[in-house]
Amino acid sequence: MLNNDVFLRALRREKVERLPVWYMRQAGRYQAEYREIRKTHTLEEICLNPALCAQVTRLPVEQLGVDAAILFSDIMIPLGPIGVQYSLVKDRGPEIANPIRGLSDVQALRPIRPHMDLPHVLATIQLLKTQLEVPLIGFSGAPFTLASYMIEGGPSRDYLRTKTMMHQDPKAWSLLMEQLGELIVTYLRAQVKAGADAVQVFDSWVGSLAPVDYRQHVLPVMQKIFAGLQDLGVPSIYFGVNTGELLGDFAEVGASAVGIDWRVPIPVARQRTQGKVALQGNLDPALLFAPWPVIEERARAIVDEAVAQPGFVFNLGHGVLPQVNPEVLKNLTRFVGEYSGRVINARKEFA
Ligand code: CP3
Repeated sequence: MLNNDVFLRALRREKVERLPVWYMRQAGRYQAEYREIRKTHTLEEICLNPALCAQVTRLPVEQLGVDAAILFSDIMIPLGPIGVQYSLVKDRGPEIANPIRGLSDVQALRPIRPHMDLPHVLATIQLLKTQLEVPLIGFSGAPFTLASYMIEGGPSRDYLRTKTMMHQDPKAWSLLMEQLGELIVTYLRAQVKAGADAVQVFDSWVGSLAPVDYRQHVLPVMQKIFAGLQDLGVPSIYFGVNTGELLGDFAEVGASAVGIDWRVPIPVARQRTQGKVALQGNLDPALLFAPWPVIEERARAIVDEAVAQPGFVFNLGHGVLPQVNPEVLKNLTRFVGEYSGRVINARKEFA
């Protein structure tokens, strides 16, 4: 039973008594329990086993006291059923055996049928709904970020093949965006119908684009995706890294909230998004390796700026790094909850 909805209220820009906290990649290798499970199960095996996948999803909620759970999965998981042969390579990321090279490769992709292709994902969500007291975030990769893996064949520094297809083969590119857009809407709708309380769309690598290319080649499919989720009434978050110069466009996709990284000051992000969305972020994940007083000072500064307007979710600017000490994340969660509660309460008294 849900007994803590501060995360959902913040996404809706309603009143909160403190800032909600969760972390991207909050389940993973920094946890001893996760490393232990990974000794005997691959990531895909965890995802195929609803009881185990729900357990891994709950680990950070139980250990850190965060205000939301995120379904344990990976952005590559829905790509298998549509015909992408991927593997997740340790310390590197996804690698694809059959990368997309042109229109015929895009045409060969199949549509997704969540109940037939990914029943374990939906079963995990249903199970988690009976176990969790905090909201559950469903998620998907975004078309550009998924396409970058599908076209490059793996992680990339410059996204040269991806950008080349975008400019040289607009027919293949727009069909790929359209197919991935449909996959994402279908997949996220199934997650919400199974019980997800909010959704996040990870566009981790879209910050590599010039704003003009983002507007022309990516923004339309993003608007279609969030429009396709509108009637469900669940809050949505659109996240990318290095997207400072895209934030004005991000505010137009139709998401309830936009994720920002540590390169963008919160007041600047507010200005660029013009009060159209809630914000989520934005502590540098590398800062968690600093001495505690430094971490506390930066977290305090984020809270002080964040509480100036409703609609803020405390998070890192990107995923938790595997080397982080879980105690630090636990202390950070407690500090942000307590300190933001004090600040918000004090503002009320003086209002
Ligand atoms: O946030 C969570 O706790 C939920 C789980 C989650 C994973 N991947 C599990 C995972 C989420 C939300 C993702 C999203 C994801 N996957 C993104 C978008 C977010 C981001 O970080 O930008 C991207 C780009 C991927 C692709 C991917 N999958 C990468 C880069 C890696 C890391 C490779 C490595 O070994 O470090 C993966 C594998 C992966 N996905 C792991 C986990 C916990 C690695 C650990 C393992 O193999 O057990």
